[in-house]
Amino acid sequence: MSKSLYIKTFGCQMNERDSEIIEQLLAQDGYSLTSTPEGADLVLLNTCSIREKAEQKVFSLLGSLRDEKKRNPAMLLGVTGCVAQQEGEHIRERMPHVDLIVGTQQIYQLPEMVQRLSQKETSREIATNLDASFEIPPFQKLLENSPPSPAPQGFKRFVTIMQGCNNFCAYCVVPGTRGREISRPVADILEEVAILARQGVREITLLGQNVNSYGQTNAVADQPVGFPELLRQVAATEGIQRLRFTTSHPKDLTDELMRCFAELENLCPHFHLPVQAGSNTVLKRMNRKYTVEQYLEKVDGLRSYCPDIALATDIIVGFPGETDSDFTATMDLLNQVRYHSSFSFKYSDRPHTRSAQFTDKVPEAVKSERLAIFQKRQDEISLERNSELLENTVEVMVEVCSETSIKARTGGNHVVHINEPVAGILPGDLIQVRIIHAGNHSLRAVLA
Ligand code: SAH
Ligand code: SF4
Ligand code: F3S
Repeated sequence: MSKSLYIKTFGCQMNERDSEIIEQLLAQDGYSLTSTPEGADLVLLNTCSIREKAEQKVFSLLGSLRDEKKRNPAMLLGVTGCVAQQEGEHIRERMPHVDLIVGTQQIYQLPEMVQRLSQKETSREIATNLDASFEIPPFQKLLENSPPSPAPQGFKRFVTIMQGCNNFCAYCVVPGTRGREISRPVADILEEVAILARQGVREITLLGQNVNSYGQTNAVADQPVGFPELLRQVAATEGIQRLRFTTSHPKDLTDELMRCFAELENLCPHFHLPVQAGSNTVLKRMNRKYTVEQYLEKVDGLRSYCPDIALATDIIVGFPGETDSDFTATMDLLNQVRYHSSFSFKYSDRPHTRSAQFTDKVPEAVKSERLAIFQKRQDEISLERNSELLENTVEVMVEVCSETSIKARTGGNHVVHINEPVAGILPGDLIQVRIIHAGNHSLRAVLA
């Protein structure tokens, strides 16, 4: 019998991929996706805990689902992902109408857990162990018999290559919510990519919290393959026209990885290299394990192998103890590297992190002011960067097309709009366009 499943995903791309896996797993038991929680048999929130706001959103949605559960008492309500891992039982203390709490290593057991609940063998299921010897099961097999529901952009997909993180940056919940770093076996990753390619996927993004250290904690230690070698093997898969990866830790960015950008034709000239701060004092207190000087050397290295590489970063403003001159150093770094884009955040205290204990917190108003200054300057630089592409002819991959317009993306990850009538062009096609207008978040082009 067909049952309906509503999943709401919060947070990063790894969670997006996990939601697809959950959907695929439950499809085997007859669940199919529905677009609203109203009337659904099973409602899952796949959650994120990275910043305070992210966690608040989860609890507020759980609160508002209380009424839905009253209307539809047969509905099962579950929490998966990083908030589930972090809060475990506490979620039920605050939200007793939650039936199911599933940690980040347990999603593969969801079908059995849901079955026990729906057959009333138990009235609640909570599983949040984090095991250092955990191995990621070969879930790629699921793709053959139950591909995830057509993604809005079916020609591009995420492939998770590792889980967890060993870095313990002072502000970050991830080592606590995802556990120790574990790499998926190379053979599983290559099999998943090959299946996707056969299904028509043309662009792959490899995912992990720190992909650069892929293979250092490998389930198959007898066949050591580092990240650059994995990239080469994935890049060689027939049909994969574009390859990306995220996220990288600067300390693990090697010359061999940089060289891939010169050698692999389908590796997109785009690199997300989170720096977090431009002051060595702050970087040290963040436990980032590199200095600004070392970071800049890596940026130079990348640009020497791939002069047009588009660089993106993550920044935290208002880390405890950040002074005006520390913040100025971050602005200096921004002006020096001139990132194409960045994600910038106000620092927030997170449970069980080292910096939550630091006493020299920066006032909220100062954080807001610094964030606004940073973002204003980044917008200006993004516009300058985008303007450098004016009148250039570039290759873009089509993402969405209607009868009158196309939305596409460059290898450097710039969004390009083409307002022209088009025939015979489909999502996933690579086409040549000439850039005619630059904004700070997107470009306009005509067919070349
Ligand atoms: N693994 C990636 C990023 C993971 S989280 C990396 O190592 O870079 C994504 C971003 O959220 C981080 O890069 C950081 O900029 C931000 N972030 C993490 N914890 C935060 C906190 N406590 N407050 C504000 N921003 C935070
Ligand atoms: Fe968090 Fe640092 Fe690990 Fe990234 S590298 S997930 S910021 S602990
Ligand atoms: Fe959020 Fe967990 Fe990803 S905290 S950013 S969903 S790893």
